[in-house]
Amino acid sequence: MARFKKFSKSLIEHFLDGGGLKQEGKKKEREGDDLEAITAMRRRVFRYEAVVEATGKFSPKQKLGEGGFGPVFKGRLEDGREVAVKRLSVASRQGTKEFMNEAMLLSEVQHKNLVNLYGYCTHGDDKLLVYEYVRNESLDKILFSREENNWKMAQLDWCRRFNVIVGVARGLLYLHEEAHTTIIHRDIKASNILLDEEWSPKIADFGLARLFPAELSQVKTRVVGTNGYMAPEYFMHGTLSAKADVFSFGVVILELISGRKNAAFAPFPDCEARSLLEWAWRLYRKGQSLDLLDPALKSTAVAEQVEMCIHLGLLCVQSDPKLRPDMSRVVIILSKRPRTLEEPSKPGIPGPRYRRHQGAAHASSPAPSAARSSSSAPDSASASSATTWTPMTPTN
Ligand SMILES: Nc1ncnc2c1ncn2[C@@H]1O[C@H](COP(=O)(O)OP(=O)(O)OP(=O)(O)O)[C@@H](O)[C@H]1O
Ligand SMILES: [Mg+2]
Repeated sequence: MARFKKFSKSLIEHFLDGGGLKQEGKKKEREGDDLEAITAMRRRVFRYEAVVEATGKFSPKQKLGEGGFGPVFKGRLEDGREVAVKRLSVASRQGTKEFMNEAMLLSEVQHKNLVNLYGYCTHGDDKLLVYEYVRNESLDKILFSREENNWKMAQLDWCRRFNVIVGVARGLLYLHEEAHTTIIHRDIKASNILLDEEWSPKIADFGLARLFPAELSQVKTRVVGTNGYMAPEYFMHGTLSAKADVFSFGVVILELISGRKNAAFAPFPDCEARSLLEWAWRLYRKGQSLDLLDPALKSTAVAEQVEMCIHLGLLCVQSDPKLRPDMSRVVIILSKRPRTLEEPSKPGIPGPRYRRHQGAAHASSPAPSAARSSSSAPDSASASSATTWTPMTPTN
């Protein structure tokens, strides 16, 4: 019994770090609360003071970036662990209990290709998620960087990019089919793929949509997805399935190969394509797939592998979700490299019924019919970095 008490105390100390908890006086105060603390530890609850201290009081200097859900700060816990703390800007509308339940559920989702959620913290309206800090940060910062002499970009050779494709596929397979609860990510994109010190990918922000109540239809920021990555059936009709993630994954494959961002695709001379997907499709049809290749990959690319990945990418972004492979098939294709694959059909690109809503690039209006989705998370869409599309009138 005494050994158990000692063991549980050391575990509690490990989790409830910082903030003077080690002080003698507080130790005594805590003794009676062992049970409560063990429960907190199991639930991976962080003390607010410890998180505030770790991030230098959410110092702007420690800000890693800001997405649709709020800012992210780098920090170091008292036990030395480096963390990335996401401060949810809209979650305050959700009940603390619901938030904690969902966060606890997510912190039990573990895979080597998913960012580890160490735990979470609530304090008044503040709701924080504490993740492991992933050293090479997000793929978008490397892949779409315009900086000259970007050393990280030089490190991202074909072999590493191929490993990113394989790792993300495995992480998604886990979320869709192997985790204790099926999780559709909804926002697979280059900025949600983090690279560790060995350039191994880790999917970030999985299940974030679960942290928001279903009835939340108008939020300041986008919670359903990012243009350029959203499957047409989800984007236009709010139909959500694992195949929506497969679509986004296909976009990421084509971005990794071309080094170009689908949502910011700028047509160039002699190219009629209006998006990366269309460009890839046209080249594929002409038997010139390899022209898609990022010039930075010329010396390291393995042509056969690149062609197979372009083919796979095009299968994933097909307009009809039923035709897209599921993630278990994707993983098999990537590991077994079959000689023959079915022909892809046309990619899903917002069609002529939709036009870009002039001047709405940063507006906050819902996506056409996403709000009709029957999924468990909210379906509102506005754009932090995204473009809003609105249906054209019949005369258009
Ligand atoms: N665990 C982490 N380790 C290292 N860097 C991180 C981590 N989490 C996030 N970041 C960095 O913080 C930045 C902001 O992340 P955030 O998820 O808020 O934005 P986003 O991915 O651009 O948008 P979204 O809200 O759609 O996910 C990311 O671009 C990434 O570089
Ligand atoms: Mg993110």
